Amino acid sequence: MWTQLVLGVMLSTTAWSVPNPTIRYDGHKVLQILPKTIEDVHELLSLAKKYHLDIWKSPRYLNETFDVRVDPEQITDFVNDIEALGLKANHWITDVQKLIDEISSGRNRRATFSIGAFNDHASINAYLDSLASANPHVTVHTMGNSYEGRAIKYVKISNNLGVNKKAIYADGGIHAREWLAVTTVLYFIDQIANNPSRDRTIDALLGKFDFYFAPVVNPDGYEYSRSHDRMWRKNRRPVISGCNGVDLNRNFAYHWNPDNGGSRNPCEEVHAGTHATSEIETKHLQNFLCSHSNLIAYLNVHTYGQYWIYPWGYTPILPTDYRDLDHLGRSAATAIRHTHGRTFTVGEDTRVLYAAAGGADDYAKGACGVKYSYTVELRDTGLHGFVAPTSYIIPAGEETFAGFKAFATELVHYEHL
Ligand code: ARG
Ligand code: ZN
Repeated sequence: MWTQLVLGVMLSTTAWSVPNPTIRYDGHKVLQILPKTIEDVHELLSLAKKYHLDIWKSPRYLNETFDVRVDPEQITDFVNDIEALGLKANHWITDVQKLIDEISSGRNRRATFSIGAFNDHASINAYLDSLASANPHVTVHTMGNSYEGRAIKYVKISNNLGVNKKAIYADGGIHAREWLAVTTVLYFIDQIANNPSRDRTIDALLGKFDFYFAPVVNPDGYEYSRSHDRMWRKNRRPVISGCNGVDLNRNFAYHWNPDNGGSRNPCEEVHAGTHATSEIETKHLQNFLCSHSNLIAYLNVHTYGQYWIYPWGYTPILPTDYRDLDHLGRSAATAIRHTHGRTFTVGEDTRVLYAAAGGADDYAKGACGVKYSYTVELRDTGLHGFVAPTSYIIPAGEETFAGFKAFATELVHYEHL
């Protein structure tokens, strides 16, 4: 009797102390719905709220789809509601778990780093360290530590570390599940630091710019999305009991407003925090952006949707110099199209995507004066969505880096650098 009781207590204690089991998405589908009217869009958004669905993509124009992830218990009711609106739900991804399982082989379980794999955060940091010790043009630095204590590292690549040139900075992984953003920034680092194809353009750009790259600015979320929940987006700070995480890209202190594309509810994916810069990761990024006065351009890299977009994210009013940002964005998009044929849409955040205040791009431009500030949404347009396969890593790196080189080259001419 006693033994049973003690055993029972022990078992339940053990069960509680074990970290959350790996969340599975068996039978979860991603539905694509094409709204016909602006009323449809509003109806779809309120249905997504009603069912607490994970919105993968909101339409901006009527010829664009609304992509949502739906769990198997809700699918019948949800599809009935959609059909009652006179719309059709296209079963786009039929099993999210299958996609996740397909790429888990490419997750690089070995602790060794590879540019063509989805590496863990510790191996990425070790790679940055080894690059800096092997390459005289590379130095490694830490912006600060994440909530759970991981170092948010960045590299500076310069052909003359003694003088500060105008600089371009790119970061990835602000949203945990967007692994392709991390691999793409690492691809940039490898190309510029090692120049494996002896590309003359890279040498020329190193004569004009210093480069800063931070591949994982939300390391706690990134690790959580690897070990527990592939669909995790936010950081990992416990906010209220049962709900962790703030959407860092709603937390920046420039026109911060949770009611503008974010949420006050800590259980939602786009929770903006209780106040601007409530998160330590946001604070480190803000400090980095405003303390490097040589920064002229910033790319905040995300997936997915194929956009190269610029501020403001908080208002449809265009910045006075939007023509300059638009022009350089188009140079990038053209080079991307010439690489693997993909089309990237260039325009202002709220006009091509949606309004969302408190974004990193707005902060860099509005608060730190980084003129050429962009959000880049990598491939694809929904085929794999957030669950990019391993086979995307190199081609996404190639096309985005082609865009990056064209952008930087045009920046030299355009600004007479
Ligand atoms: N997908 C990005 C996000 O939702 C887009 C951000 C665009 N920039 C902005 N300031 N709203 O965070
Ligand atoms: Zn994102």
